[in-house]
Amino acid sequence: MKALVLSGGAGTRLRPITHTSAKQLVPVANKPVLFYGLESIAAAGITEVGLIVGETCDEIRQVVGDGAQFGLKITYIPQDAPRGLAHAVLIARDWLGDDDFVMYLGDNFIIGGIAGLVETFRENRPDAQILLTRVPDPRAFGVAELDGDGRVIGLEEKPDRPKSDLALVGVYLFTPAIHEAVRAIRPSGRGELEITDAIQHLIDTRADVRSTVIKGYWKDTGNVGDMLEVNRTVLESLESRLEGEVDAESEIIGQVVVEAGARVTHSRIIGPAVIGAGTEVRHSYIGAFTSVGEDCQILDSEVEFSIVLRNASIRGVARIEASLIGRHAEVTPAPVVPHAHRLILGDHSKVQIHS
Ligand code: DAU
Repeated sequence: MKALVLSGGAGTRLRPITHTSAKQLVPVANKPVLFYGLESIAAAGITEVGLIVGETCDEIRQVVGDGAQFGLKITYIPQDAPRGLAHAVLIARDWLGDDDFVMYLGDNFIIGGIAGLVETFRENRPDAQILLTRVPDPRAFGVAELDGDGRVIGLEEKPDRPKSDLALVGVYLFTPAIHEAVRAIRPSGRGELEITDAIQHLIDTRADVRSTVIKGYWKDTGNVGDMLEVNRTVLESLESRLEGEVDAESEIIGQVVVEAGARVTHSRIIGPAVIGAGTEVRHSYIGAFTSVGEDCQILDSEVEFSIVLRNASIRGVARIEASLIGRHAEVTPAPVVPHAHRLILGDHSKVQIHS
Protein backbone atom coordinates (compact mmCIF):
# COMPACT_ATOMS: atom_id res chain seq x y z
CA MET A 1 0.00 0.00 0.00
CA LYS A 2 1.20 3.51 -0.88
CA ALA A 3 0.23 7.01 0.24
CA LEU A 4 -0.52 9.95 -2.02
CA VAL A 5 -0.19 13.14 0.01
CA LEU A 6 -1.53 16.37 -1.47
CA SER A 7 0.55 19.37 -0.64
CA GLY A 8 0.04 21.45 -3.74
CA GLY A 9 -2.22 24.41 -4.27
CA ALA A 10 -1.48 28.09 -4.60
CA GLY A 11 0.91 29.81 -2.20
CA THR A 12 -1.29 32.77 -1.46
CA ARG A 13 -4.36 32.13 0.62
CA LEU A 14 -6.60 34.82 1.96
CA ARG A 15 -5.95 34.05 5.57
CA PRO A 16 -3.69 35.91 7.94
CA ILE A 17 -1.27 33.06 8.52
CA THR A 18 -1.14 31.46 5.12
CA HIS A 19 -0.79 34.64 3.08
CA THR A 20 2.73 33.97 2.10
CA SER A 21 3.38 30.34 2.77
CA ALA A 22 2.04 26.85 2.19
CA LYS A 23 -1.05 26.07 4.23
CA GLN A 24 0.27 22.55 4.89
CA LEU A 25 3.01 24.18 6.96
CA VAL A 26 0.69 25.93 9.44
CA PRO A 27 2.12 24.89 12.83
CA VAL A 28 0.22 22.86 15.41
CA ALA A 29 2.15 22.74 18.70
CA ASN A 30 5.14 24.15 16.79
CA LYS A 31 5.11 21.42 14.12
CA PRO A 32 3.77 21.80 10.56
CA VAL A 33 0.35 20.20 10.18
CA LEU A 34 1.72 18.17 7.23
CA PHE A 35 4.22 16.43 9.55
CA TYR A 36 1.41 14.90 11.61
CA GLY A 37 -0.05 13.44 8.43
CA LEU A 38 3.31 12.01 7.34
CA GLU A 39 3.91 10.58 10.82
CA SER A 40 0.52 8.90 10.91
CA ILE A 41 1.16 7.39 7.46
CA ALA A 42 4.45 5.96 8.75
CA ALA A 43 2.68 4.72 11.91
CA ALA A 44 0.19 2.88 9.67
CA GLY A 45 3.09 0.87 8.24
CA ILE A 46 3.24 2.65 4.87
CA THR A 47 6.67 3.70 3.63
CA GLU A 48 6.20 4.86 0.03
CA VAL A 49 4.76 8.35 -0.27
CA GLY A 50 4.05 10.35 -3.42
CA LEU A 51 3.93 14.03 -2.48
CA ILE A 52 1.95 16.27 -4.83
CA VAL A 53 3.50 19.73 -4.88
CA GLY A 54 2.68 22.96 -6.68
CA GLU A 55 3.78 26.57 -6.44
CA THR A 56 5.12 26.13 -2.88
CA CYS A 57 7.26 23.15 -3.88
CA ASP A 58 10.58 24.64 -2.69
CA GLU A 59 9.24 25.52 0.73
CA ILE A 60 7.75 22.05 1.21
CA ARG A 61 10.85 20.27 -0.06
CA GLN A 62 13.06 22.27 2.28
CA VAL A 63 11.29 21.05 5.43
CA VAL A 64 10.21 17.56 4.33
CA GLY A 65 13.32 16.48 2.40
CA ASP A 66 13.49 12.88 1.24
CA GLY A 67 11.24 11.70 4.08
CA ALA A 68 13.98 9.86 6.00
CA GLN A 69 13.16 11.86 9.16
CA PHE A 70 9.72 10.16 9.13
CA GLY A 71 10.99 6.75 8.04
CA LEU A 72 9.40 7.35 4.61
CA LYS A 73 10.60 7.29 1.03
CA ILE A 74 9.13 10.38 -0.60
CA THR A 75 8.76 10.89 -4.35
CA TYR A 76 7.83 14.44 -5.36
CA ILE A 77 5.13 14.68 -8.01
CA PRO A 78 4.81 18.21 -9.43
CA GLN A 79 1.36 19.52 -10.39
CA ASP A 80 1.37 22.48 -12.77
CA ALA A 81 -1.70 24.11 -11.19
CA PRO A 82 -4.29 23.16 -8.56
CA ARG A 83 -6.57 21.38 -11.01
CA GLY A 84 -8.35 19.33 -8.37
CA LEU A 85 -7.89 16.36 -6.07
CA ALA A 86 -8.86 13.88 -8.78
CA HIS A 87 -6.34 15.52 -11.11
CA ALA A 88 -3.66 14.69 -8.53
CA VAL A 89 -4.66 11.01 -8.79
CA LEU A 90 -4.51 11.25 -12.60
CA ILE A 91 -0.96 12.61 -12.66
CA ALA A 92 0.21 10.10 -10.03
CA ARG A 93 -1.10 7.15 -12.08
CA ASP A 94 2.31 5.81 -13.12
CA TRP A 95 3.81 6.19 -9.67
CA LEU A 96 0.80 4.53 -8.02
CA GLY A 97 0.85 1.56 -10.39
CA ASP A 98 -1.73 -1.03 -9.38
CA ASP A 99 -1.29 -0.57 -5.64
CA ASP A 100 -4.01 0.31 -3.16
CA PHE A 101 -3.37 3.71 -1.62
CA VAL A 102 -4.41 6.20 0.99
CA MET A 103 -4.92 9.72 -0.31
CA TYR A 104 -4.16 12.22 2.44
CA LEU A 105 -4.79 15.97 2.13
CA GLY A 106 -1.77 17.74 3.60
CA ASP A 107 -3.77 20.43 5.39
CA ASN A 108 -5.91 17.95 7.33
CA PHE A 109 -5.30 16.88 10.91
CA ILE A 110 -6.70 13.66 12.35
CA ILE A 111 -6.35 13.19 16.07
CA GLY A 112 -5.40 9.58 16.76
CA GLY A 113 -3.93 8.94 13.30
CA ILE A 114 -5.04 6.51 10.59
CA ALA A 115 -3.44 3.17 11.54
CA GLY A 116 -6.77 1.57 12.55
CA LEU A 117 -8.51 2.79 9.39
CA VAL A 118 -5.77 1.48 7.14
CA GLU A 119 -5.92 -1.89 8.87
CA THR A 120 -9.71 -2.17 8.46
CA PHE A 121 -9.36 -1.24 4.79
CA ARG A 122 -6.68 -3.87 4.27
CA GLU A 123 -8.93 -6.52 5.84
CA ASN A 124 -12.13 -5.67 3.95
CA ARG A 125 -10.75 -4.10 0.78
CA PRO A 126 -13.86 -2.26 -0.48
CA ASP A 127 -13.32 -0.32 -3.74
CA ALA A 128 -13.13 2.89 -1.72
CA GLN A 129 -13.41 3.93 1.89
CA ILE A 130 -14.18 7.52 2.89
CA LEU A 131 -14.09 9.24 6.26
CA LEU A 132 -16.80 11.55 7.47
CA THR A 133 -17.14 13.86 10.42
CA ARG A 134 -20.00 15.95 11.75
CA VAL A 135 -19.44 19.69 11.38
CA PRO A 136 -21.70 22.61 12.29
CA ASP A 137 -21.48 24.19 8.82
CA PRO A 138 -20.66 21.66 6.10
CA ARG A 139 -20.89 24.12 3.20
CA ALA A 140 -17.09 24.43 2.97
CA PHE A 141 -16.68 20.65 2.55
CA GLY A 142 -17.74 17.71 0.47
CA VAL A 143 -20.97 16.44 2.05
CA ALA A 144 -22.25 12.84 2.19
CA GLU A 145 -25.77 11.54 2.27
CA LEU A 146 -26.26 8.12 3.86
CA ASP A 147 -29.22 5.74 3.68
CA GLY A 148 -30.83 4.13 6.72
CA ASP A 149 -28.17 1.40 6.78
CA GLY A 150 -25.32 3.92 6.78
CA ARG A 151 -24.42 3.31 3.11
CA VAL A 152 -23.23 6.31 1.09
CA ILE A 153 -25.87 7.17 -1.49
CA GLY A 154 -24.70 10.60 -2.60
CA LEU A 155 -21.84 13.06 -2.35
CA GLU A 156 -21.84 16.76 -3.14
CA GLU A 157 -18.93 19.19 -3.17
CA LYS A 158 -19.51 22.37 -1.14
CA PRO A 159 -23.30 22.42 -1.53
CA ASP A 160 -25.29 25.58 -0.73
CA ARG A 161 -27.92 23.39 0.86
CA PRO A 162 -26.18 20.41 2.45
CA LYS A 163 -28.24 17.23 2.77
CA SER A 164 -26.50 16.28 6.02
CA ASP A 165 -23.93 17.55 8.50
CA LEU A 166 -21.46 14.82 7.48
CA ALA A 167 -18.39 16.41 5.92
CA LEU A 168 -15.84 14.49 3.90
CA VAL A 169 -12.55 14.31 5.77
CA GLY A 170 -9.43 14.63 3.63
CA VAL A 171 -8.34 11.01 3.94
CA TYR A 172 -9.52 8.48 1.38
CA LEU A 173 -8.61 4.83 0.87
CA PHE A 174 -8.68 3.55 -2.67
CA THR A 175 -8.12 0.43 -4.71
CA PRO A 176 -7.06 0.91 -8.36
CA ALA A 177 -10.81 1.13 -9.19
CA ILE A 178 -10.46 4.88 -8.65
CA HIS A 179 -8.31 5.30 -11.79
CA GLU A 180 -11.16 4.57 -14.18
CA ALA A 181 -13.41 6.90 -12.14
CA VAL A 182 -11.02 9.89 -12.28
CA ARG A 183 -10.78 9.43 -16.05
CA ALA A 184 -14.57 9.35 -16.39
CA ILE A 185 -15.37 12.72 -14.77
CA ARG A 186 -15.32 16.29 -16.10
CA PRO A 187 -14.21 19.49 -14.29
CA SER A 188 -16.75 20.94 -11.84
CA GLY A 189 -18.25 24.42 -11.78
CA ARG A 190 -15.13 25.70 -10.02
CA GLY A 191 -13.01 24.20 -12.79
CA GLU A 192 -11.49 21.37 -10.75
CA LEU A 193 -11.54 17.61 -11.21
CA GLU A 194 -13.28 16.75 -7.95
CA ILE A 195 -12.49 13.53 -6.09
CA THR A 196 -16.04 13.82 -4.73
CA ASP A 197 -17.35 13.37 -8.32
CA ALA A 198 -15.01 10.43 -8.91
CA ILE A 199 -16.31 8.68 -5.77
CA GLN A 200 -19.89 9.50 -6.83
CA HIS A 201 -19.03 7.80 -10.14
CA LEU A 202 -17.96 4.71 -8.20
CA ILE A 203 -21.27 4.76 -6.30
CA ASP A 204 -23.23 5.17 -9.56
CA THR A 205 -21.45 2.20 -11.10
CA ARG A 206 -22.31 0.09 -8.03
CA ALA A 207 -18.81 -0.13 -6.64
CA ASP A 208 -18.40 -0.89 -2.94
CA VAL A 209 -17.91 2.51 -1.26
CA ARG A 210 -17.88 2.45 2.52
CA SER A 211 -17.74 5.21 5.08
CA THR A 212 -16.58 5.64 8.65
CA VAL A 213 -17.61 8.54 10.85
CA ILE A 214 -14.73 9.88 12.94
CA LYS A 215 -14.26 12.44 15.70
CA GLY A 216 -11.19 14.56 16.35
CA TYR A 217 -10.74 16.23 12.98
CA TRP A 218 -9.38 19.64 12.05
CA LYS A 219 -8.42 21.54 8.94
CA ASP A 220 -7.28 25.08 8.48
CA THR A 221 -10.42 26.98 7.60
CA GLY A 222 -8.95 30.28 8.75
CA ASN A 223 -10.87 29.98 12.02
CA VAL A 224 -8.45 30.93 14.80
CA GLY A 225 -10.71 29.51 17.53
CA ASP A 226 -10.50 26.05 15.91
CA MET A 227 -6.77 26.39 15.49
CA LEU A 228 -6.27 27.23 19.18
CA GLU A 229 -8.41 24.23 20.09
CA VAL A 230 -6.42 21.76 18.00
CA ASN A 231 -3.21 23.26 19.35
CA ARG A 232 -4.57 22.76 22.88
CA THR A 233 -5.47 19.12 22.18
CA VAL A 234 -2.01 18.33 20.84
CA LEU A 235 -0.26 20.15 23.67
CA GLU A 236 -2.23 18.07 26.17
CA SER A 237 -0.25 14.98 25.20
CA LEU A 238 3.08 16.76 25.38
CA GLU A 239 5.94 15.19 27.33
CA SER A 240 8.12 17.57 29.32
CA ARG A 241 11.57 18.25 27.91
CA LEU A 242 13.81 21.05 29.11
CA GLU A 243 16.69 21.25 26.68
CA GLY A 244 17.11 25.01 26.68
CA GLU A 245 18.35 27.17 29.49
CA VAL A 246 16.04 27.83 32.46
CA ASP A 247 17.49 29.96 35.26
CA ALA A 248 16.97 29.35 38.98
CA GLU A 249 14.61 32.34 39.24
CA SER A 250 12.17 30.76 36.81
CA GLU A 251 9.34 28.40 37.64
CA ILE A 252 8.17 25.65 35.31
CA ILE A 253 4.88 23.94 36.19
CA GLY A 254 3.28 20.99 34.37
CA GLN A 255 4.25 19.61 30.95
CA VAL A 256 6.55 22.10 29.30
CA VAL A 257 8.98 21.80 26.41
CA VAL A 258 11.83 24.30 26.24
CA GLU A 259 13.73 23.54 23.06
CA ALA A 260 17.53 23.61 22.86
CA GLY A 261 18.81 27.13 22.42
CA ALA A 262 15.82 28.76 24.12
CA ARG A 263 16.44 30.88 27.26
CA VAL A 264 13.95 31.34 30.06
CA THR A 265 14.89 33.81 32.79
CA HIS A 266 12.92 35.31 35.71
CA SER A 267 9.74 33.81 34.27
CA ARG A 268 6.88 31.47 35.04
CA ILE A 269 5.65 28.89 32.53
CA ILE A 270 2.51 26.88 33.18
CA GLY A 271 2.14 23.85 30.93
CA PRO A 272 1.20 22.43 28.68
CA ALA A 273 3.29 24.83 26.69
CA VAL A 274 6.15 24.74 24.22
CA ILE A 275 8.92 27.29 23.76
CA GLY A 276 10.74 27.04 20.43
CA ALA A 277 14.50 26.93 19.83
CA GLY A 278 16.28 30.26 20.04
CA THR A 279 13.41 31.99 21.82
CA GLU A 280 13.97 34.27 24.77
CA VAL A 281 11.42 34.47 27.59
CA ARG A 282 12.38 37.08 30.16
CA HIS A 283 10.41 38.52 33.10
CA SER A 284 7.31 36.95 31.61
CA TYR A 285 4.43 34.62 32.24
CA ILE A 286 3.50 31.94 29.70
CA GLY A 287 0.17 30.35 30.53
CA ALA A 288 -1.30 26.96 29.66
CA PHE A 289 -1.98 25.86 26.07
CA THR A 290 0.54 28.21 24.51
CA SER A 291 2.96 27.47 21.68
CA VAL A 292 5.79 29.90 21.11
CA GLY A 293 7.71 29.30 17.88
CA GLU A 294 11.42 29.62 17.16
CA ASP A 295 13.47 32.78 17.65
CA CYS A 296 10.76 34.78 19.41
CA GLN A 297 11.17 37.35 22.15
CA ILE A 298 8.72 37.42 25.03
CA LEU A 299 9.90 40.12 27.38
CA ASP A 300 8.05 41.63 30.38
CA SER A 301 4.83 40.14 29.06
CA GLU A 302 2.04 37.66 29.76
CA VAL A 303 0.78 35.26 27.10
CA GLU A 304 -1.80 32.54 27.58
CA PHE A 305 -3.78 30.08 25.40
CA SER A 306 -2.14 31.45 22.26
CA ILE A 307 0.00 30.55 19.28
CA VAL A 308 3.03 32.72 18.59
CA LEU A 309 4.81 32.03 15.33
CA ARG A 310 8.52 32.25 14.76
CA ASN A 311 10.44 35.51 15.03
CA ALA A 312 7.55 37.31 16.71
CA SER A 313 8.34 39.76 19.47
CA ILE A 314 6.09 40.65 22.42
CA ARG A 315 7.52 43.23 24.79
CA GLY A 316 5.91 44.88 27.80
CA VAL A 317 2.39 43.61 27.13
CA ALA A 318 -0.06 42.24 29.71
CA ARG A 319 -1.99 40.14 28.94
CA ILE A 320 -2.42 38.43 25.58
CA GLU A 321 -4.82 35.49 25.40
CA ALA A 322 -6.67 33.41 22.78
CA SER A 323 -4.49 35.01 20.11
CA LEU A 324 -2.58 34.01 17.02
CA ILE A 325 0.53 36.13 16.47
CA GLY A 326 2.13 35.80 13.03
CA ARG A 327 5.75 35.49 11.98
CA HIS A 328 7.90 38.57 12.63
CA ALA A 329 4.92 40.32 14.26
CA GLU A 330 5.70 42.86 16.97
CA VAL A 331 3.45 43.67 19.91
CA THR A 332 4.53 46.52 22.18
CA PRO A 333 2.73 49.05 24.41
CA ALA A 334 1.54 52.35 22.97
CA PRO A 335 2.91 55.56 24.50
CA VAL A 336 0.90 56.63 27.60
CA VAL A 337 -0.02 59.96 26.00
CA PRO A 338 -1.90 60.34 23.72
CA HIS A 339 -4.19 57.51 24.74
CA ALA A 340 -4.40 55.81 21.35
CA HIS A 341 -3.80 52.45 19.67
CA ARG A 342 -1.16 52.31 16.99
CA LEU A 343 -1.69 49.49 14.54
CA ILE A 344 0.03 48.22 11.45
CA LEU A 345 -2.09 45.25 10.48
CA GLY A 346 -1.58 42.98 7.50
CA ASP A 347 -4.42 42.17 5.12
CA HIS A 348 -7.21 40.14 6.75
CA SER A 349 -5.87 40.78 10.26
CA LYS A 350 -8.26 40.85 13.20
CA VAL A 351 -7.69 42.73 16.47
CA GLN A 352 -9.79 43.11 19.59
CA ILE A 353 -8.92 46.12 21.72
CA HIS A 354 -10.23 47.73 24.91
CA SER A 355 -11.51 51.19 24.15
O1 DAU B 1 -10.35 19.02 3.71
C1 DAU B 1 -11.47 18.26 3.36
C2 DAU B 1 -12.07 18.76 2.06
O2 DAU B 1 -11.00 18.79 1.09
C3 DAU B 1 -13.21 17.85 1.59
O3 DAU B 1 -14.33 17.96 2.46
C4 DAU B 1 -13.65 18.24 0.17
O4 DAU B 1 -14.61 17.34 -0.30
C5 DAU B 1 -12.43 18.24 -0.75
O5 DAU B 1 -12.78 18.66 -2.07
C6 DAU B 1 -11.35 19.15 -0.23
O6 DAU B 1 -11.85 20.48 -0.26
P1 DAU B 1 -10.97 21.82 -0.25
O7 DAU B 1 -11.55 22.78 -1.22
O8 DAU B 1 -10.87 22.28 1.15
O9 DAU B 1 -9.56 21.36 -0.76
P2 DAU B 1 -8.29 22.27 -0.99
O10 DAU B 1 -8.37 22.99 -2.28
O11 DAU B 1 -8.05 23.09 0.25
O12 DAU B 1 -7.16 21.19 -1.12
C7 DAU B 1 -6.91 20.21 -0.14
C8 DAU B 1 -5.42 19.85 -0.13
O13 DAU B 1 -4.98 19.34 -1.37
C9 DAU B 1 -4.50 21.02 0.17
O14 DAU B 1 -3.44 20.54 0.97
C10 DAU B 1 -4.00 21.46 -1.18
C11 DAU B 1 -3.97 20.16 -1.96
N1 DAU B 1 -4.29 20.28 -3.39
C12 DAU B 1 -5.49 20.80 -3.77
C13 DAU B 1 -5.83 20.88 -5.09
C14 DAU B 1 -7.17 21.43 -5.52
C15 DAU B 1 -3.38 19.81 -4.32
O15 DAU B 1 -2.29 19.33 -3.95
N2 DAU B 1 -3.72 19.89 -5.64
C16 DAU B 1 -4.91 20.41 -6.08
O16 DAU B 1 -5.15 20.43 -7.30
